[in-house]
Amino acid sequence: MTFPNQRPRRLRTTPAMRRLTAETRLAPSELILPAFIREGLTEPNPITSMPGVVQHTTDTLKRAAAEAVELGLGGIMLFGIPETRDAEGTAALDPEGVLNKAIRDVRAEVGDDLVVMSDVCLDEFTDHGHCGVLDAEGYVDNDRTVEIYARMAVAQAEAGAHMLGPSGMMDGQIAAIRSALDGAGHVNTSLIAYAAKYASAFYGPFREAVDSQLKGDRRTYQMDAGNRTEALREVELDLAEGADIIMVKPAMSYLDIVADVAAMSPVPVSAYQISGEYAMIEAAAANGWIDRRAAITESVLGIRRAGAHTVLTYWAAELAGWLKESH
Ligand code: PBG
Repeated sequence: MTFPNQRPRRLRTTPAMRRLTAETRLAPSELILPAFIREGLTEPNPITSMPGVVQHTTDTLKRAAAEAVELGLGGIMLFGIPETRDAEGTAALDPEGVLNKAIRDVRAEVGDDLVVMSDVCLDEFTDHGHCGVLDAEGYVDNDRTVEIYARMAVAQAEAGAHMLGPSGMMDGQIAAIRSALDGAGHVNTSLIAYAAKYASAFYGPFREAVDSQLKGDRRTYQMDAGNRTEALREVELDLAEGADIIMVKPAMSYLDIVADVAAMSPVPVSAYQISGEYAMIEAAAANGWIDRRAAITESVLGIRRAGAHTVLTYWAAELAGWLKESH
C-alpha cells in the first residue's frame, strides 16, 4: 500500500481552515444593485419573470437605495421606464424624465455614500425598443444615436449620477460621451463601459422588466455569442476612448471573456449577472431542484473568481445581507 505524500485535503479539514485558505472572497462593496423605476406607479410592480424584483415607485426606490447604503453595497444602477415613448427616445433628454428624476431622488437620499450609476441607452425610451434611432431602412443609425447618448449623458450627470453606464454598443460612444461630459464641466463623472456586450437570449426577463417594445433582435450592434477575440478589440477601443471601468455582459456564459479581459485591462473589470441568469436560478430553486442560497453564492463567487472586481446582480442586497450575517 502506498500513501500519497501530497494531501491537499489538509487545507479543507475545517471551516476555519477553508476560510483561511480561500482564494476568492465576497464583500458587499463589490456588489452593484440594478434597479428599475417606472413612471406613474403608485405601488411597486412585481416582475413576473424575475421573482423578488420589482419596478419601483419613487418611494420604494429611495428605500432600496437607503438599504443599499446600510448593507455597504458598492453601487446602484438605475434603469427608467417612461410613460410615453417615441421614435427618438426624447424622454431620455428631459431633465424631468423618469430616469433623470430618479437619479436626483436617489442622490438626495444617499449623497456620496453609494455610487449612483445610470443606464445611458435609448431602448427604454424608444417606441420601437432599439438602443438607438433608426434610419430609413430600419438600421440603427450609429452616429446620430451617439449624439443623443452624449446629450443624455450630460443630462444624467447634471441630475447627479456619479457614474454612467453606456450600454448601447454603438461605435465611438465612450469617446463622444466623455467629450460631451468634459465640455459641460463634468470631468469627474465616470464611465462604466459595457465594452463586451453580447446579443444574448438571457436578456429575456429584462424585456419584461422594462416593458420593452422590441421586435426582432439587437444583433447588428451587440456581439455574437461565439466571438472571443472581438471582445478584446471592443475593450481596447473603450479603454482608448476613456472608459474608467470595463464591463462584460452577460456573466455566467461568458466567464472566459471575463478572464481574458481581466488579464489585459488596466482598469477595474465588472460583469453583469443578467436577468435570465437570475431567473434560471430562481426557477430551479423554486422547484426545489437546487439549494437557492448556495447556488446564488456560488454563481457570484464564480464571476469574481474569473476576474471581475465588481458584479452587477439582482441579488446584491440579499447576498450582502448573508455576507454580513456570516461574518
Ligand atoms: C439595454 C440593456 C439590456 C440590459 C441592460 N441594458 C437589455 C438588452 O440589451 O437587450 C439587460 C440586463 C438584464 O438582462 O438583466 N439598455
